[in-house]
Amino acid sequence: MTQIVEACEMKTNTTPDFPMGWYSVSRSHELLVGEVKRVYAFDRELALYRTRSGVAVLQDAFCPHLGAHLGVEGRVVGESLRCPFHGWRFDTSGKCVEIPYCSEIPDRAQIRMWPTQEKNGEIYIWFHPENSAAQYDLPDLLELENEQWTAPRYAEFEVPAHIQDIAENSCDPVHFKYVHKTPDTPPSTVTIDDDGRILHLRSDASQSPHPHQLHATVFQPGLALVRTSYAPEAEMVVYNSALPIDRNTTLLRWTLCVRREIEDIVGDDVMNGIIEGIKQDYPIWANKVHKQRPVFCREDKTLVMFRKWVRQFYIEAKEQV
Ligand code: FES
Ligand SMILES: [Fe+2]
Repeated sequence: MTQIVEACEMKTNTTPDFPMGWYSVSRSHELLVGEVKRVYAFDRELALYRTRSGVAVLQDAFCPHLGAHLGVEGRVVGESLRCPFHGWRFDTSGKCVEIPYCSEIPDRAQIRMWPTQEKNGEIYIWFHPENSAAQYDLPDLLELENEQWTAPRYAEFEVPAHIQDIAENSCDPVHFKYVHKTPDTPPSTVTIDDDGRILHLRSDASQSPHPHQLHATVFQPGLALVRTSYAPEAEMVVYNSALPIDRNTTLLRWTLCVRREIEDIVGDDVMNGIIEGIKQDYPIWANKVHKQRPVFCREDKTLVMFRKWVRQFYIEAKEQV
């Protein structure tokens, strides 16, 4: 009798789609008035620009006329973007408002726009696979406006993994011992708000050489605020907003703010520590597959909670546990 051997899992056939949510496509200060940029995210080409009045706009890249990329040599004209190929001009609703050599504009001369919001020093877009309107608001990063906190430090890192797998890491206490070589794992709890949307991870590291409490608030896969408290006036926050580039590549963006009282003690060291930590995770991420149905053991409770929580960000509630 012939044995049928099951095909190997491959990254290409096991990774999930992109979860819905708010994603940062640029830092605010990296897009000047009148600037036009090509953005590659969600496995597609996009064009980002800032109008003369200062509004950040994100749209599909390709001109409906003959398909030029509007993010490459497109030009901002007032509150519109002009195509570099034949000069058709599109307003911020995506409608063509001028064809320089024709008085009649076809109805279908329209580009798909993405809902955009600028906040927390970043330009976010709302991604939904079916184009549905935003289902929740962006969080406020209050520390950015507060004088008792330092100016933000920034870091970015591209990692070869699906955004969900990276987010899952924070609910995976066991890997700290094996990947990050920590002597033991501080006691941690994972809870989910009553409405089911926001996940919290709390760790009690009061027994560590630098005793602290950690509280990660996870708003969606790839959007989290991690607060570390050493003492009431000695706190820092790390805000992570990730952007899926494609199904197997994610850009991580960190913003770090520290209470002025402890700036000289932490700050750069912490940012370097985060980047070191990511480097340790890197070989695992670069070579793993996404397991849709992992075999969990009894102690994997926080991972099981994460998998149940994360389903809400996909339109088809996949069986992931
Ligand atoms: S391709 Fe854009 S105007 Fe022709
Ligand atoms: Fe890790």
